[in-house]
Amino acid sequence: MFSPKIYKERRNELKKKIKSGLILFLGNDESPMNYTDNTYRFRQDSTFLYYFGIDEPNFAAIIDIDENKELIFGNDFTIDEIIWMGPQKTVKQKASRCGVKQTYSMSELENILKNALSKGRKIHFIPQYRHSNMIKLQILLGIDATRINDYASPELIKAVAEQRAVKSREEIEEIEKAISIAYEMQVSAMRFTKPGMIEKEIAGFIEGIAISMGNGLSFPVIFSKHGETLHNHYYGNKLKAGDIVVNDSGAESFLHYASDITRTFPVSGKFSQIQKEIYEIVLLAQLTAIKSIKPGVSYKDIHLKASTVIAEGLKALGLMKGDIKEAVKQGAHALFFPHGLGHLLGLDVHDLENFGENNFGYDNKIKRSSQFGLKSLRYAKALVPGIVITVEPGIYFIPQLIEKWEAEKKFEEFINYQRLNLYKNFGGIRIEDDILVTNNGSRILGKPIPKSIEEIEEVASNKI
Ligand code: GLY
Ligand code: MN
Ligand code: MN
Repeated sequence: MFSPKIYKERRNELKKKIKSGLILFLGNDESPMNYTDNTYRFRQDSTFLYYFGIDEPNFAAIIDIDENKELIFGNDFTIDEIIWMGPQKTVKQKASRCGVKQTYSMSELENILKNALSKGRKIHFIPQYRHSNMIKLQILLGIDATRINDYASPELIKAVAEQRAVKSREEIEEIEKAISIAYEMQVSAMRFTKPGMIEKEIAGFIEGIAISMGNGLSFPVIFSKHGETLHNHYYGNKLKAGDIVVNDSGAESFLHYASDITRTFPVSGKFSQIQKEIYEIVLLAQLTAIKSIKPGVSYKDIHLKASTVIAEGLKALGLMKGDIKEAVKQGAHALFFPHGLGHLLGLDVHDLENFGENNFGYDNKIKRSSQFGLKSLRYAKALVPGIVITVEPGIYFIPQLIEKWEAEKKFEEFINYQRLNLYKNFGGIRIEDDILVTNNGSRILGKPIPKSIEEIEEVASNKI
């Protein structure tokens, strides 16, 4: 945990932004895999971690704005539980580590909330994503569990999202620790991967690094020679010389801050000419985007700038044609780059995503587009110092999408479908880094991970 002072300061900051009422925070419970006692890895709710730091199941907290009180709810372990789970600190001891003095057993939560409700007091809560917590809220607040998120507090969503989005020095340090694990996951994978291996051998190896160096993965590893499937979690393909693989993976630091890094590398250690040509375009798009990052610039503009680099590069290879400015405006390039340039990163790998992307990634100046490709941009508004955002352009050859668009004669003025036939088995290339927006520009977080063709070939041909 951070020091108690940090959690107190975070809560004090939040208290200034909420006018009245109570704020209810639900921690996460254990999540059963196939029966109650066989659970998935426990993951605390990120907002609970942010304000209270207690990394254990069965906790809740209240900040009473009107009475300026902070309460933590949890149950001390019984001797039966200690027999199975070892000696435990008391709820009081755990609460004191985040600077909270008042503690209650879980059963008191319902009484306190019912009492507040009976007096007509406002109870603020953030959107929920776990069904068990939706059911809990139904019991505690009397709201239909299936409609809980309709009652989440817009005032609280805005306050928490604004606060969590901007990272402090100690949070940046945590993210950099997570990136140092991702460094090992990337470099070791390049060196470990050999023709004849099955993807899962490497995916398992990568996950082992995340577990041995940190708190495990920040999201399921994406490791595939079919990089054209954006979130490919199938690891059953056999790799051969000539293949390229996308490795999109990251780890959690011990305090649960995430990294999210992608590299694409050749199985044999050497890219072919055609792979190099596409790689250079993606790399230029990524570097151009990173260079454009500074406070005040909208991420939508940077996304469109990266899209333009991609479209121009593809035109130079004869895969796109015509007026590139117009092609990007109409979204023709999204055949090759169908996702957004990036997303916030922090305690969540897609930071704050449970708050609703339109609530924190868009504002009254920039509304979400409905255009294919651009609609998948998770964060579009003007950048501010202190946020961490991923920059992850890619070029993909998705056979089903190409066939569909060709059959529809879509964007024939911008796309050379005939030449595309040569690329149908190409796969995909994505390059992703995690970037801090600074007062006058940006900084790529973590120690540099091999990225140029020369750097990657050098590492990927030096096998272990
Ligand atoms: N790791 C998934 C993504 O890059 O969004
Ligand atoms: Mn990623
Ligand atoms: Mn990402």
